[in-house]
Amino acid sequence: MNDVMTGTLRLPTRVHFGYGTREQLSEVLGLSGRRVLAVVDPFLIGSTLFEEVLTRLRGDGFDVAVHSDVQPELPTASLEAAAAFAREHRPDVVLAVGGGSALDAAKLVALLAVHGGPLSRYYGENLVPGPSLPLVAVPTTAGTGSEVTPVAVVSDPEREMKVGISSPHLIPTTAIVDPEFTLGAPRSVTAFAGIDALVHAVESFTAVRFAPSWDGTLPVFTGRNAFSDVLALRAVELLGTSLPVVVDEPGDRGAREEVAFGSLLAGVSFGATGTHLSHALQYPVGAATKTPHGLGTGLLLPYVLRACLADAGAAERIAAVGGALGSTASTADGRARDAISSIVALNRAIGVPASLRDIGVTRQQLPQLAELASRSARLIAIAPIPAPPEQLLDILDHAYAGSLTERSDP
Ligand SMILES: NC(=O)c1ccc[n+]([C@@H]2O[C@H](COP(=O)([O-])OP(=O)(O)OC[C@H]3O[C@@H](n4cnc5c(N)ncnc54)[C@H](O)[C@@H]3O)[C@@H](O)[C@H]2O)c1
Ligand SMILES: [Fe+2]
Repeated sequence: MNDVMTGTLRLPTRVHFGYGTREQLSEVLGLSGRRVLAVVDPFLIGSTLFEEVLTRLRGDGFDVAVHSDVQPELPTASLEAAAAFAREHRPDVVLAVGGGSALDAAKLVALLAVHGGPLSRYYGENLVPGPSLPLVAVPTTAGTGSEVTPVAVVSDPEREMKVGISSPHLIPTTAIVDPEFTLGAPRSVTAFAGIDALVHAVESFTAVRFAPSWDGTLPVFTGRNAFSDVLALRAVELLGTSLPVVVDEPGDRGAREEVAFGSLLAGVSFGATGTHLSHALQYPVGAATKTPHGLGTGLLLPYVLRACLADAGAAERIAAVGGALGSTASTADGRARDAISSIVALNRAIGVPASLRDIGVTRQQLPQLAELASRSARLIAIAPIPAPPEQLLDILDHAYAGSLTERSDP
């Protein structure tokens, strides 16, 4: 696994992690001005924790306008309305507090407030012309990593699947990751956000390595590199150990801390490398079944890894994932197989369904889902194996049947 040591990380200027870091909000917001637009997850309105934050900010002299109409799946129309609200308030800085949906909404409001719509102008990579409003991002779920990543995902009624906007200009200025906000998250939100973080870490670690070319604009997602290797494997360890604990014991502060840190490290890692096939496949599966993003990526990951074993380099990396998940098998082969069965077992433990059939996909839909997934060229290119539609269909066939079990031999 020895590689030439090159790599790129593009990150917020500041990242604060730990219980109590929300106390830093006045200091970091004050770096950009006094007028704040808070884009807030609706669940926080009326909560003691958020009211305390708001009272503190107003007490410290900030003029805070709150926008909490964050709609599930982020329909584009809702974001244009939020941007109109932003232009009226003329904020110096946007504060985002909430799950990945609220954080993504805030990124796009900050973009639209400066550069104008329609959002479709920016779909794809590197199409944002310059900096957006400064953004301070505070996640309340441990999963998406959106507080540090250069991407936001929206639903456009004119498109069959959710679409991404990715640009270094979407990276928040500051991330404040205080696990206190995740303590009250319901079981399924915790489970699906947390398993998505594990998928980010594993896909980042098994991403293809592109030969770096420094002359010209770098792609937003650069494939795995010397930084991501370190971050992703530590994220796998933390999430593998503590995710099942927080799903069963939501008040376990130590385990919540580890899952939040794992999610953050995974976000830093995949924000540079990109993710691959579980994500390419989840977009059409999620659109067809209206199931949460993490449920789909978590369900698909073992089947994607099984297919990736065909590449010797990827198999070696999957073995390292097995080691990070606690495998003590004496051969690399054994550790790679353990990686897959441990993820299947983790899925069962936290309530991720066992097969695509279980979430309402029909066998007849599979070729169409494979074809739609193959259109995510950017994600397919980051996979460690060639993934033409036939390969994607093979993965879907196995995931449909639920052919992998905790004890099966992939
Ligand atoms: N930008 C990125 O890098 C990135 C990466 C992965 C996923 N995403 C996007 O993020 C979204 C998923 O984000 P998510 O998993 O955080 O879920 P979410 O933001 O959609 O939230 C799910 C539900 O949980 C509620 N919630 C959030 N935090 C809570 C808490 N602490 N207590 C109680 N309820 C809480 C929300 O109000 C919502 O009803 C998807 O839209 C996905 O496309 C973005
Ligand atoms: Fe994801």
